[in-house]
Amino acid sequence: MDKYAVIGNPIEHSKSPEIHAAFARQTGESVEYTRLLGDIDDFPGDVRRFLAEGGQGLNVTVPFKEEAWRLADELSPRAHTAGAVNTLIRLGNNRLRGDNTDGVGLVRDLTVNQGFRIQGRRILMLGAGGAVRGVMRPLLEQKPKRIIIANRTAGKAYSLANGLAPYGQVAGCGLDELEEMRFELIINGTAAGLSGKVPALPDSLLGKGGWCYDMLYSDRATPFQTWSREHQAARSLDGLGMLVEQAAESFRLWRDILPETAPVIAMLRG
Ligand code: ATR
Repeated sequence: MDKYAVIGNPIEHSKSPEIHAAFARQTGESVEYTRLLGDIDDFPGDVRRFLAEGGQGLNVTVPFKEEAWRLADELSPRAHTAGAVNTLIRLGNNRLRGDNTDGVGLVRDLTVNQGFRIQGRRILMLGAGGAVRGVMRPLLEQKPKRIIIANRTAGKAYSLANGLAPYGQVAGCGLDELEEMRFELIINGTAAGLSGKVPALPDSLLGKGGWCYDMLYSDRATPFQTWSREHQAARSLDGLGMLVEQAAESFRLWRDILPETAPVIAMLRG
C-alpha cells in the first residue's frame, strides 16, 4: 500500500480521507490515506518524518499551504502563481514537487458538474486572501470577460489583481466600490462564512439569471448561499464539488488516473 495523508491543524474534520478512500475503491489503486495533525512550529519536520516512513504524497490544508509552497523543491506553474501548495508529490531523490489543485477543482465543478460556461462571463470574486489567490490563475485561463476581485481591505485586492494581470482581464476594488456593477457569477472566497457572516454587498449586484458559488461548504446552507437565494440567484452552489474535484486532481497527480467524482459527491451529500 502506498501511503498518503492530509496534513493541517486542526485536521479532525477533514473529509479528504473519506474522499480518497472512495477513489481508491473505485479505481482499485492500492492507497492508504490518513489524517496528520501538523505541528504549527515544525511543518517541515512533520513532512520529513512522513517521507521517512515511506509516504508518497501529501495534501496540505490550513494553515500550512504557504509553508508547503516554500518547502517544495519544485513548483507547478499554477502553484507558483497561487503562492500556496495543497498537493505535495514525492519525486526521486527525496525531492518534493508542489502543486495546487484548488483552482482546477473550482473550474471543473463549475464547468463540468454544473454546466456553467466561464468564457466571456463577468465574474465577481469576493475576498483576496489565500483561498482566492489559490484559484485565480485556472479561472483566468478559462477566458472570462473580466474578473473583479473585491475585498473588504481594498489594497489587498489591488495588489492581487496587479500580480495576475499577465493571465487575463482582472481588476481589484473595495467592497464599497461595487454599487453600479452587475455580474453573471459571484464567487465567495472570503472567510466571513466561518463566523456566520456575509460580506457587505449591494442588493443589485447579481444580474438576472446570475449564479452564486460559495467556496465554503457546510452541511447546511452557508450564509452566502442564503444571501444568494434571497437575491434570486439562478443557482446557489456550495464548495463541496470543488472539494471533491481538487481531491480528484491530487489523486491523478499521484496515481496517474482521474477518478470519477459524481458518485463521491453524491455519497457525501448523503
Ligand atoms: P483564506 O486563506 O481563507 O483566504 P485569509 O488569507 O485570512 O484566509 O483571507 C480571509 C479573507 O476573507 C480576506 O479576503 C478577508 O478580508 P480582509 O482582507 O479585508 O481581512 C475576508 N473576510 C474575512 N471576514 C470577512 C467579513 N466579515 N467580511 C468581508 N470579508 C471578510
